[in-house]
Amino acid sequence: MDRARITIFDTTLRDGEQSPGCSMNVQEKLRLAQQLDRLGVDVIEAGFPIASDGDFQAVQKIAASVRRPIIAGLARACTGDVDRAWQALQGAAHPRIHVFLATSDIHLKYKLRITREQCLERARDAVRHAKSLCADVEFSPEDATRTDVPFLCQVVEAVIAAGATTVNIPDTVGYTMPEEYGQLIRTLREKVAGIDKVTISTHCHNDLGLAVANSLAGVQNGARQVECTINGIGERAGNASLEEVVMAMRVRPDHYAFETGVASEQIFAASQMLAEITRVPVQPNKAITGRNAFAHEAGIHQDGMLKNPLTYEIMTPQSVGVPDSRLVLGKHSGRHALALRCEQLGHQFERRELDEVYRRFVVIADRIKKVQDSHLLELIQDVTNDNGAGQKFPPAATPRPFPRAAAAGAGANSADLHPAQVSGIAGQAKMTIPFSDHHSEQEDYLWGV
Ligand code: KIV
Ligand code: ZN
Repeated sequence: MDRARITIFDTTLRDGEQSPGCSMNVQEKLRLAQQLDRLGVDVIEAGFPIASDGDFQAVQKIAASVRRPIIAGLARACTGDVDRAWQALQGAAHPRIHVFLATSDIHLKYKLRITREQCLERARDAVRHAKSLCADVEFSPEDATRTDVPFLCQVVEAVIAAGATTVNIPDTVGYTMPEEYGQLIRTLREKVAGIDKVTISTHCHNDLGLAVANSLAGVQNGARQVECTINGIGERAGNASLEEVVMAMRVRPDHYAFETGVASEQIFAASQMLAEITRVPVQPNKAITGRNAFAHEAGIHQDGMLKNPLTYEIMTPQSVGVPDSRLVLGKHSGRHALALRCEQLGHQFERRELDEVYRRFVVIADRIKKVQDSHLLELIQDVTNDNGAGQKFPPAATPRPFPRAAAAGAGANSADLHPAQVSGIAGQAKMTIPFSDHHSEQEDYLWGV
């Protein structure tokens, strides 16, 4: 069977970052972008360059150093935003300007205070301007799912004529239902002139828990790009979760005749890295990346699993990079096993750095039987924090208190010691919270859009 290729557009660094408490600094964004590259996403939306200098720098740095995927920068439909986005993106191997403008009457009347005619003109002008700078232009009619359908068709047709190459249909407030969203994509395909020349994209929020179902319904009805985030983070209840969208297609190829370029074994590392950087732990029962996603508690399930994993497992933990819990890290473990587990947790070390991690690991392993992922994450953070003073190791995430055990995801070994006890052994430095005002400033800015 011929499988259509779905473009995976990751917006963890933009929409994901808009979720409360998930802001990231430039260094953290760059580190995550490199992991998204290893994960094989097609597009990385690196930020909203006009929102802050930090966002601008992050987009610029990612554009300069992550060369395989398309790097997108968000812009409102006005010249200043588009120019700023282009300034940040210029150095990218594959730049994309992503222009958005609300189209629903509610947004036009109460937020933007413009008429439909003015909206149409603004969208068309902004896309035309973006196109004069960059060949790859995406347009999003914000709140598309609450927009009058004939007007939505009119806007989409106008931006395609102005040069848009991708048209994204956001369910901004997570309001739509799968059949309804699928029907909307179908209607656009039937009614809009030129639609067959562009890629239709989904962008679904999770306010009713339907973001993934809606995205998949969109794909089944002709969308060929899915916008999503690691661990489903994003505004309010979040965005469609990348790992759920990708694995639904992979586990049910009989139902979804699509493929993506995602290296699914890199999913767990990406999830862990994000949780560690943001200090927002993954919900334990989160599909694919939660620590219970592959845990079997009930006796009847355990019995089935021991007889044949197919009884209760629809995908293997290995297929999404969840570390093999049979590989126990203890005092007899070597650098190879340690390096592998670090990679699975989202940390790649050079030889010299690994030596330091290993030296500290042996100290802990000497005291306890099994070194858990949570212990290891804590140790890694200590090592990378030390880098702040001595510059011996790669810079770590901004130090903030972290519910550390919670960041250890699926497949973690059972504890022999509580992580807090181990932190004493590891000589844990006291941590402070240098929260900058920048985060709240940025959020205010975005709310004002
Ligand atoms: O949810 C939304 O409408 C957005 C747009 C900016 C694409 O995030
Ligand atoms: Zn969004």
